[in-house]
Amino acid sequence: MPFPAKYIPLMIALFLLGGVSAMSLYASQQERLNGEQRETQRVQALIGGSFEMVDHNGKTVTDKTYLGSYLLVYFGFTYCPDICPTELQVMTEALNMLPAKQAAKVKILLVSIDPERDTPKQLASYVSNFHDNTVGLTGSLAQVKKMARTYRAYYKKVKDKDNPDDYTMDHSSIVYLMGSDGKYLSHFAYGTRAKVIADKISSYMKNS
Ligand code: NI
Repeated sequence: MPFPAKYIPLMIALFLLGGVSAMSLYASQQERLNGEQRETQRVQALIGGSFEMVDHNGKTVTDKTYLGSYLLVYFGFTYCPDICPTELQVMTEALNMLPAKQAAKVKILLVSIDPERDTPKQLASYVSNFHDNTVGLTGSLAQVKKMARTYRAYYKKVKDKDNPDDYTMDHSSIVYLMGSDGKYLSHFAYGTRAKVIADKISSYMKNS
């Protein structure tokens, strides 16, 4: 049966409509991508910066020390009962999932927000439980405060409810992924799976 001529204008209209919606879909995707880029740039300006700390070997280090390595930066403390060890375990798993060549370019920085108890020696024994590329950082109260501020990390000393003579630390639990140039790339909320972290690191390395 030949196509009835009276339907032709309708077909043209539908064809054009399809084209228009495909274009607007493309435009909104572009907008979203640009939005993501802008967001990364905005956060980049907010997170990270220069610091001077002491590593778990007692050596003074700065942000320059780690240029050339991708960093997973995490603020926590060694006496943390569960959150910190869990997160360090997740980061360890993420590094173990990466091909050795990629993993070699990543360091996990555990920045202590409890420097009064986290001496370099204490940190050294603690980080030995996790991936070999894990570095513990500590410093004076002022040094820790300054570094936490550059990463917008929150922490607070609080009385231990079970043991009034003792204290514990409240702290934010975010993993920051920093590029080999020291600049912010992304961050992961507590509970992010190791695979997600590994894939993200991998994709940044491939695109750099
Ligand atoms: Ni913790």
